[in-house]
Amino acid sequence: METQINEQVFETFPKLESERLFFRAYKKSDAQTLLNLRSHAAVSKYMDTSIPKHIEDTKKRIEGYHNAFDENKGITWAIIEKSSNIPIGDFGIWQIDKKNARGEIGYILHPDFWGKGYMTETINTLIRFGFNDLNLHSYTANVNTENENSKALLLKLGFKLEAYFRENFYYDGQFLDSEIYCLLKSDIE
Ligand SMILES: CC(C)(COP(=O)(O)OP(=O)(O)OC[C@H]1O[C@@H](n2cnc3c(N)ncnc32)[C@H](O)[C@@H]1OP(=O)(O)O)[C@@H](O)C(=O)NCCC(=O)NCCS
Repeated sequence: METQINEQVFETFPKLESERLFFRAYKKSDAQTLLNLRSHAAVSKYMDTSIPKHIEDTKKRIEGYHNAFDENKGITWAIIEKSSNIPIGDFGIWQIDKKNARGEIGYILHPDFWGKGYMTETINTLIRFGFNDLNLHSYTANVNTENENSKALLLKLGFKLEAYFRENFYYDGQFLDSEIYCLLKSDIE
């Protein structure tokens, strides 16, 4: 398959670090933490995806993250706060389009840790890793139009709004609008 990305990145899980945070792979033992995170009402409000109810659901999700990495399709990192050494959220690149060197990003943070600039620090680290190590050319992000925190984060990081799709996403009995944001490598050079 034609690829523009650097697949050597998938040989060993790329642990990353920023000033206040560590980023590592999820472990099976993080399943309860992930359940608490993804089932929190403020976190799931605009995620538009099924909310996990049991630890088995998040064990499967973690297995899915590991499989995606093993198949060179995506990378998900748990975010660890250095000062407390606890997992506080996660982020990743998924649906990596190798031919076009494009990846979609996703991120969640436990609300106890919002408003500290942690996700800005995290996604800045991810952006540099993706452009410099994975050799991506662009990132995309798909956001519920009412998710003001997420939109503010993307704009602050230099993403541009490229599309507004009306009622393109069916979830929980409704057709929802979506905004598509994009960041090119040249936007931050
Ligand atoms: C989207 C989400 C990660 C944003 O979290 P966040 O904490 O607001 O993100 P940031 O890291 O950018 O923090 C920004 C805030 O920290 C403040 N801040 C404090 N210290 C800071 C610092 N050192 N550097 C930068 N910002 C700092 C900023 O002023 C800003 O506050 P404000 O929103 O009141 O203006 C969070 O709302 C979330 O997890 N939502 C639920 C999941 C979700 O919707 N994910 C996205 C799906 S598309």
